[in-house]
Amino acid sequence: MLQRLSPTQSPQDLPPGRLVLWETGEGLCLAMTGPQAPHPIRVDFGAGRLAFRRSRGGSEALVKAVRGSQKGTLRVLDATGGLGTDAFLLACHGMKVTMLEKDPNLCLLLQDGLERAKALPRLKNILEVLHLVQTDSLVFLEELPPGRFDVVYLDPMFPERGGAALPGKEMQILRRLLSDPPPPDEEKVLLERARRAVKRVVVKRPKNAPPLGGIPAPFQRMGKRCRFDLYVS
Ligand SMILES: C[S@@+](CC[C@H](N)C(=O)[O-])C[C@H]1O[C@@H](n2cnc3c(N)ncnc32)[C@H](O)[C@@H]1O
Repeated sequence: MLQRLSPTQSPQDLPPGRLVLWETGEGLCLAMTGPQAPHPIRVDFGAGRLAFRRSRGGSEALVKAVRGSQKGTLRVLDATGGLGTDAFLLACHGMKVTMLEKDPNLCLLLQDGLERAKALPRLKNILEVLHLVQTDSLVFLEELPPGRFDVVYLDPMFPERGGAALPGKEMQILRRLLSDPPPPDEEKVLLERARRAVKRVVVKRPKNAPPLGGIPAPFQRMGKRCRFDLYVS
């Protein structure tokens, strides 16, 4: 677990190049240290940019990719939670979302974001259908009984720049936190287990990236800044 700074301390005053958790009046942040460090990040489900994306209804490529032609309330497993942005948007569009995240520091940020969002009455309905589980998705998927979810959504970290799914500062800090490359074949196994668990798996990729685990997707949907690979059985 990362070192935790109190509100009276500042990451800018520490030697550069480290990552810390920083409690601020605006919530728990993940910050890099040093005077030139990018702005700290936190989970803010009430943020203006998310309100804009919520207002776009079902026109979001992410929402279309996950929903496909399925009707009703979909049960979605977001197996790569990250900062929870995609999971939140899916929940905003009428889906019941369980997000899995294995990194304990990110889980603290997500939990903090969920707690603060509870104070916002306009998000009440959304928070009722958005849940976080701290776990390794590989294990969760292997033990998952059939029929629990309709869709698995995967957005694993991509090592190169370009087509990144998150804005620059977030990716910079996330990459620093999750700097260990996944063991060989992990992404392939993740996709295979997801495909065994549900009929529809959606994978977010940078536009020109190879398919996850080298497994070609039968269908694709292009978003503005990324591509969604669709595995349907
Ligand atoms: C690019 S981020 C996801 C961003 C997310 N879609 C969002 O909207 O913020 C990828 C995340 O997947 C998580 N992850 C990767 N493999 C995982 C696994 N096996 N189990 C759980 N989480 C995993 C990483 O820790 C990282 O936080």
